[in-house]
Formats: sequence, structure tokens, C-alpha cells
Amino acid sequence: EGPLRTVVGANAHHSFHRAAWLLGLPAPVVVPTPHGTLDPEALDAALATTPGPLLVAATAGTTDEGLIDPLPEIADVCAAHDADLHADAAYGGPLLFSRTHRRLLDGLDRARTVTVDLHKLGWQPAAAGLLAVRDTTDLAALAHTADYLNADDDTDAGLPDLLGRSPRTTRRPDVLKAAVTLRALGRTGLGALVDTCMDLAQDLADRVEKHPGLDLHARPTLTTVLFRPHDTDDTTVAAIRRSLLTGGRAVLGRARANGRLWLKATLLNPHATPGDLDQLITLVEGSTHR
Ligand SMILES: Cc1ncc(COP(=O)(O)O)c(C=O)c1O
Repeated sequence: EGPLRTVVGANAHHSFHRAAWLLGLPAPVVVPTPHGTLDPEALDAALATTPGPLLVAATAGTTDEGLIDPLPEIADVCAAHDADLHADAAYGGPLLFSRTHRRLLDGLDRARTVTVDLHKLGWQPAAAGLLAVRDTTDLAALAHTADYLNADDDTDAGLPDLLGRSPRTTRRPDVLKAAVTLRALGRTGLGALVDTCMDLAQDLADRVEKHPGLDLHARPTLTTVLFRPHDTDDTTVAAIRRSLLTGGRAVLGRARANGRLWLKATLLNPHATPGDLDQLITLVEGSTHR
């Protein structure tokens, strides 16, 4: 059996390429995603020609467009090829807190492993990344005994054994803030914050759509809104973003979609107001006509 082959969409986060390199694995096989999400048929074709063992990474909340790969169909394709499925839910994972939006993550439970970044839609300071495994035997490689940390008789006597909880040994108590947040806000409280940001994104998209001087890339799936001034070239779009950033007026991202460059507003502040959205539009407009 050859080395593990990882298969990702072109829409996947660059960390997969770094991880493969760090682990000494072959570079990931990249499936083109011209429409922003991983197409199950294209994945099927890629898996048919890639020797196993196979690990597919799907994304629930893409970095550029905030899209969710079709998880149930991808899970079917993975099952047909005996490939493991990882879901990168760094951005979209906390939709699970929302009764209104959790259905968008249908199929997530079919992944063998899931990652979530609570420093995005979880409002934690970094570091706040989580790895969830369906089968805890997947964590067996973390099981080590080091006499100075978790000798059997100490563990039997009730001392905590933290060695198997993380790939790191000495580490910050990063989980404490997440635990405190969950205790304080609960699932419902976090769900309400998610819902507010989802509504804000739709609100910004409405405002962009109504604005004659701006183009909206697409209705948002998550809280990412891609837009650009009408009749502008990519160089100008990039210059507008830099000028707002260096002038200390707005921090917008940039993303390529449909072969063009877009301004990216990622709505992650539940306290943003409609006035803030209007102000952002005014700032972009003001930079356009200079
Ligand atoms: C989809 C996705 N996966 C993974 C990451 C990487 O997360 P981290 O910042 O924890 O390295 C990001 C960060 O933007 C992301 O958008």
C-alpha cells in the first residue's frame, strides 16, 4: 500500500497543502472548483484515478466565498471509493448552534473527522481550533505514558491525564475560554449570535444589490459577502481595498471568484448595525470616485 493520498477541492484552505508537506505526504490532489464548491462528480472522477489509501477534505464554509460543499453527496462518493472524509468546518461549524441554519450542515455527521475554529463564528480569541472525531480510537496515537505526567498509579489515584487530549504536551489552557463561553451563553446564546451575523450578511447583500454603483457576486450562504464597484477593473478593486485598509477606514478581504477580484466583507460581529453596513458602502463608494 502506498502513502496516504489527500484529495481536496481548489476551494480548500491552503493549510491542507502545508499539512501534507509537514507530514511528509504527497502533495494533495486538487479537484477544480469553478463554481466555488467541490463537485461530487468531479471528485468521483479524481478518486477513480488516484491510488489509495485516500483522504478527502470537504469544506463547510470556504475561505473565499463562504460556501458549503455538498456534504451528503461527497460522503456517498467517499463511501463508494472507500475514502475517508474529513470536513473542514473551521468557519461554518458553529451553524450547528443555530436551529434556523443547522440544516445547512446536513451530512457533516458522515465525516470521520471535523475541524472547527471557534475564533471565527465562536467569538474566541485565537487559538481556539477543535478537532472532533467520530470514533475515539482515531485518537489512540495520542496515548502515551510518561512517568512524570501520567503514571498509571497517579491516574488510578485520580490525578488528571491530559496527555491524550492534544498532540501538544505543554500548552495553554485554550479550552477554558471556550468552556466559559459555552457555559455563559449556551447553545441557544451562541445560536442567536450566529443568526444575527447570518441576517447581517443578507442585509448587506440587499443593500449592495439595490445600489446602482455596486455589483454583488452572489447571495451569501454564510456571512461572507463578495461585491465590487460596477465597471471597475481588478487593479482598481485591489487599490480600493488597500486604500481603505491603510487609511484605517475599513478592513475588507479580497477574493477571486468567476475570474474576477472581489471585495470581501465577512460579517462576524453580531453588534454591527445597519448604519455600519451603510457606512461601509459609503466608504467603498467614496474610494471609487477618487
Ligand atoms: C476554511 C478554513 N479552514 C481552515 C482555516 C485555518 O484556520 P486557522 O486560522 O485556525 O489556521 C481557515 C482560516 O481562515 C479557513 O477559512
